[in-house]
Amino acid sequence: LFLGAGALVAGLALAPGLKAHANGPAPATFTPAQAAHGQQLYLDNCASCHGPDLNDGGYAPSLKGQVFRGKWTDKSVGELYGFVAANMPPGQAGDMPPEDYAAVVAFLMQSNGADAGSGPLASDTNVLSAEAWPAPKPAS
Ligand code: HEC
Repeated sequence: LFLGAGALVAGLALAPGLKAHANGPAPATFTPAQAAHGQQLYLDNCASCHGPDLNDGGYAPSLKGQVFRGKWTDKSVGELYGFVAANMPPGQAGDMPPEDYAAVVAFLMQSNGADAGSGPLASDTNVLSAEAWPAPKPAS
């Protein structure tokens, strides 16, 4: 009787953990307007190195495609947001307001196949650290 009760309690305690693991962190969302604003900011601040099409810069790595996605999409969105805000553009890192960095990250997500949603992407590393990438469409 005693062992049986213990196994039942252990089973109940484990269930929420398994559920959380299966579902993972909530995916981030961004709005179409945010991504469009981000594209403009990208062209003004990033394209000189990374290229207007994100993969055609002579001085910096591609920001779209399988290599880029392989590096970032398994991490929280906070990782990418934090990296960009802390390092880009080189020599002027952190010069853009947080909202602008969030817009650029939204544009990078869209450029890697993620669909815009109804809510804006947060401009806060702590919030974004609890959010996963929206699933990219495989072909883009
Ligand atoms: C002066 C050239 C230059 C500009 C302008 C620039 N970058 Fe970069 N960027 C680089 C270089 C060089 C690297 C690779 C070295 C590194 O990772 O620090 C890089 C790396 C990155 C990475 C990581 C790529 C990877 O493969 O993981 C991201 C993301 C990024 N930049 C985003 C941006 C964004 C967004 C902007 C505009 C706000 C920007 N960069 C502006 C030169 C630039």
